[in-house]
Amino acid sequence: MKRRLILGLLGLLAVAAVGLAAEHMRDIYKGSLEERVNALASIQPGLGTVMIEYGDRFTNTYYAAKGGNWALAQYELKEATEIQEVGEITRPGKAGLLKEFEHSYLDPLEKAIEAQDWNAFETRFEAAVAGCNGCHAATGHPFIHYKLPPAPMQNYIDFNLKTKPKVNIEEGEEEGK
Ligand code: HEC
Repeated sequence: MKRRLILGLLGLLAVAAVGLAAEHMRDIYKGSLEERVNALASIQPGLGTVMIEYGDRFTNTYYAAKGGNWALAQYELKEATEIQEVGEITRPGKAGLLKEFEHSYLDPLEKAIEAQDWNAFETRFEAAVAGCNGCHAATGHPFIHYKLPPAPMQNYIDFNLKTKPKVNIEEGEEEGK
């Protein structure tokens, strides 16, 4: 009985040692450059993390457009596509679907913002929501169903400030553009 217990404990120790060795391979400070890069890659945000920001910014885009803060709507949408790009890099298997979604649903939303056209925006937003949930279903997550919350995510930002979208948002944050 005692012997069995000791053998069992030894077995556990062996398993722990193997586990520890595996963990050592995921050390961002130790090992070869490649091992350290791989360790760094393994802790980059995956789609679950990316999607939380994506959803927040998507929601904010809606409320900014609704409030007539068109520059904020444009900014939130641009930031959403930037975090989307992080997802495309960390989860390359989903990059094609994400790009397709962006071109089919977010580009028309951007056009509606540029035109400051609330009616067009609302229609496009609804279509985009169907696109979000379509992709969730297609990727085995039908239980993740986006629905517009009753208020924007950051209620300390003034979504009702009246602003115009920038003509060329890519040219950065300079005043008057
Ligand atoms: C590539 C197709 C795809 C598209 C397009 C997509 N998602 Fe996702 N989304 C996913 C996947 C996959 C997950 C689950 C992530 C995981 O398993 O790590 C997810 C998860 C989520 C989550 C849950 C995050 C959490 O863990 O709490 C939210 C919220 C979300 N998506 C919002 C959105 C919104 C809003 C849109 C549209 C603006 C959108 N998604 C578009 C694939 C997509």
